[in-house]
Amino acid sequence: MSETISNPPTAALRYEMRAGVAVMFLDNPPVNGLGDTLRAGLYAGLSRASADAEVSAIVIIGAGRAFCGGADIRQFNTPAASAKPMLRDVLAAIEASAKPVIAAIHGFALGGGLELALGCHYRVAMPDVSLGLPEVNLGLVPGGGGTQRLPRLIGVGKALDMIQSGKSLGGVAALDAGLVDALASPQDDLLAFAVSYAQARGAAGAPHPLAARLVVQGTADFDAVRRGVNAKARNALAQRAAIDCVEAAMQLPFSEGLDAERRHFDDLVVGDTSRALRHLFFAEREAPRVHGGGQIAEVAQVAIVGAGTMGGGIAMAFANAGYDVILHERDQAALERGLGLIRKNYEITAAKGKLDAGQVQQRLARITASLDMSDLAQADLVIEAIFEDMAVKQGVFAQLDKVCKPGAILATNTSRLDINQIAAATQRPGEVIGLHFFSPANVMKLLEVVRGDLTSQDTIATCMAVAQKIGKIPVLVGVCEGFVGNRMLTGYWREAGFLLEEGASPRQIDDAMKAFGMAMGPLTMADLAGLDINWATRKRLAPTRPAHLRYSKVADRICEQGRYGQKTGAGYYRYEPGKREPLHDPAVDEIIEACAREAGITRRAISDEEIVTRCVLALVNEGARIIDEGIVQRASDVDVVYVHGYGFPGARGGPMFYAQSLGLDTTLAKVQALQKEHGEHWAPAPLLVRRVAESVRGF
Ligand code: NAI
Repeated sequence: MSETISNPPTAALRYEMRAGVAVMFLDNPPVNGLGDTLRAGLYAGLSRASADAEVSAIVIIGAGRAFCGGADIRQFNTPAASAKPMLRDVLAAIEASAKPVIAAIHGFALGGGLELALGCHYRVAMPDVSLGLPEVNLGLVPGGGGTQRLPRLIGVGKALDMIQSGKSLGGVAALDAGLVDALASPQDDLLAFAVSYAQARGAAGAPHPLAARLVVQGTADFDAVRRGVNAKARNALAQRAAIDCVEAAMQLPFSEGLDAERRHFDDLVVGDTSRALRHLFFAEREAPRVHGGGQIAEVAQVAIVGAGTMGGGIAMAFANAGYDVILHERDQAALERGLGLIRKNYEITAAKGKLDAGQVQQRLARITASLDMSDLAQADLVIEAIFEDMAVKQGVFAQLDKVCKPGAILATNTSRLDINQIAAATQRPGEVIGLHFFSPANVMKLLEVVRGDLTSQDTIATCMAVAQKIGKIPVLVGVCEGFVGNRMLTGYWREAGFLLEEGASPRQIDDAMKAFGMAMGPLTMADLAGLDINWATRKRLAPTRPAHLRYSKVADRICEQGRYGQKTGAGYYRYEPGKREPLHDPAVDEIIEACAREAGITRRAISDEEIVTRCVLALVNEGARIIDEGIVQRASDVDVVYVHGYGFPGARGGPMFYAQSLGLDTTLAKVQALQKEHGEHWAPAPLLVRRVAESVRGF
């Protein structure tokens, strides 16, 4: 017998009676976030159930695809987030209930969602659940008692590991750990399972167990765990706080532990790092959304043209995600070289224990080699990754257009060439698009999806969806020199070159940028990417460069000596054969000093602060122009590009967020000061000027 109460406590909570059990459905799509209305609903539902003599037990269960994803992220930083009752009030009501409260979990219970379940007397779950406290990933600690209840329930060692890493447990592991009390079978109806479990508990009578009343079991060497925190991890601060909280669970009475947890949470939530990480969390989820919609077409067969560095990596990215891939090359030798490299890469992964031999074979078997372009006739998506040469690419696209079935998407992995010109070589410009992967393509998360003037919405929508299926974060960008990421590098490397001439060494610049948080410094990065590629671009663009603007010849001079970076054993640094460690090279000092002399520059001592300011603000100023020109859909997309493609520190949220944290007015003032000192290169981006004039705090 089922009876729905006609006036549920709130819209986000559905309250039903099932055979003497009050069932409260968390019903706040998409993930049953614990917003103010849901918390109020739970609170009201609990008091209704305890007052109702017909009710012997209470089940809390999620409607839709999961139990609960935690705090309602749409309410972050709004008054609703701190409206009463708070989660801890709801948990106190559960703990005060004489009738047993059972959390019935399917899908996931994460963050506040798991904390809600931890506050219940019992937890039952489906086997395929994911249970975790991922707050550290946002630079936070759990704020709803998770750090106090979890150690009491599953022991200090496992709890510390889960809370510090943010990693989840599956159903079986959770049952073993004592995090859940009973696991349903895959074919069970969770609600029916939970109701019958609740009836039994209700009949057994009080007292019912509460995590808060348990004594923490086990021991941990907290100092050793603290020393083990990677100081460079973007969430190092939150990890340390998480360790403190779990230690408090061992040392303090429950309520004092809760207070300690709350103090850590309150400190972290207003701090720069957590703000930056939360910004990125939203930015990453926003990035794949395309204005203007579009129909997503089915992509089953993928083909890659060119089995070089990028083609091989792209083939692996698709094979890893379960796609069948045709890998096409122009001759047998190149094909074998490419396949050999793919095999070697998989073997390296296997040697690290990340894949077993069977998985390697399975992935390799998904890649079919081809020397005949007609093999590509049935592909739904073709990605070209051949030499960076317009005429060669146009030739291949004209051929692909003839061979490939109507509707097939033809994509290019070009880093800089004009997609519109490539599309013009075909009769299907609507299906031509750029898919700019980053090296190594099987590892790097970023994908710049480059829309041409005629690229259709359906083509864009399909590519954004496929990108996510292979685990990438796609960012939609428009055609311009270097798209988003490489375009911004131009100013970044320009400033590095100027700073070299003015007195800094390659090592000082790289060290200063690493201390700022970059994964590697600009000159080490240039050596890794290959200096010849930018040299070719500079030569191509030389006719468009205004003669009166300052230009550093350092990079050109280095290239003129055949020093193309790591691959030639020398660039801004020198490299021992087979080694990747950048070593100081006096020959480069001579080049730098000669360039400075010729340009009439007196070298001086440069501070690390000046290096960071000039390199980072060069990124910011160009990023603002890119946003203004509509090359990206939103400012945060630039941040996603820089964090996931260029090693910008996530803890600073990306270059545009960093400028906002500095204050756009401060940023503009610094850019203007640089303009005064160094000239036109530093003309402030009009968007930056406008935002400051409008007193708007963000881009
Ligand atoms: P690569 O030189 O390693 O590989 C190019 C491959 O294409 C060679 O194996 C060559 O035999 C093959 N090829 C040439 N013409 C062909 C044809 N007509 N049919 C079939 N195969 C043909 O080059 P890489 O580095 O993989 O670059 C490929 C593309 O990806 C370029 O457009 C490049 O700008 C772009 N790219 C490169 C990145 C990098 O870091 N290397 C990063 C992002 C994009």
